[in-house]
Amino acid sequence: MRIDKLLAHSGFGTRKEVKELIRKGYVTVNGEIIKKDKAHVDPMRDEIRVDDEKIIYEEYVYYMLNKPSGYVSATEDNVYPTVVELIDDYYRDDLFPVGRLDVDTEGLLILTNDGVLAHQLLSPKRHCPKVYYAKIKGIVTEDDVQKFLKGIVINDDYQCQSAHLTILSINHGESEIEVEIYEGKFHQVKKMFLALGKEVTYLKRIRMKELYLDTSLQLGEYRRLTDEELDRLKDESVLQ
Ligand code: URA
Repeated sequence: MRIDKLLAHSGFGTRKEVKELIRKGYVTVNGEIIKKDKAHVDPMRDEIRVDDEKIIYEEYVYYMLNKPSGYVSATEDNVYPTVVELIDDYYRDDLFPVGRLDVDTEGLLILTNDGVLAHQLLSPKRHCPKVYYAKIKGIVTEDDVQKFLKGIVINDDYQCQSAHLTILSINHGESEIEVEIYEGKFHQVKKMFLALGKEVTYLKRIRMKELYLDTSLQLGEYRRLTDEELDRLKDESVLQ
């Protein structure tokens, strides 16, 4: 990897600014001052320092975001700001969201540059469990719970897998529920309720596999996953 690219990716400034640091002799590779910005280094093996600060290069990064409404789960969009724009301590351009939450859906979203993990979590064959909290206009009934368990039909002919619906409360004609689903069709939760003639008025993801949304994160806030959380996400044994 080129040294100027590595330093820019590590937050030492723009390409132009890091070239200046290199030219002025602030950068060492394995103890030797390096003055060529085109020089190649191996970030996993070489010891690279900027003004004696050691660069710790991470190949893969993993963030948990409490997604706010109004942000699109994409890396680019012409209409809405993207979830990637919320991660303002990341200096590379390879971050992407693992799957999609609708623009008006809130809650747990993982962002990473690890395509293999993303693929594992999104692969329909792996039935990754996802839990949502929702507010529903109207009264959700035990009959609805049974229908979710049997498998709701959406998009005219798509038979959803069995899903676990829990009624949390019913107040003033509004129901609060939690639902666990094992697939990720477009607008799935909203469509499942629509198939029963009910409207989702608020939707928030609270869990993906065994990874729970950190409730101390305010909407729009994010943090790195801990090693233990990452292990739980990667653990194949927790899948159905
Ligand atoms: N189901 C939906 O309808 N929307 C989401 O954002 C996620 C699941």
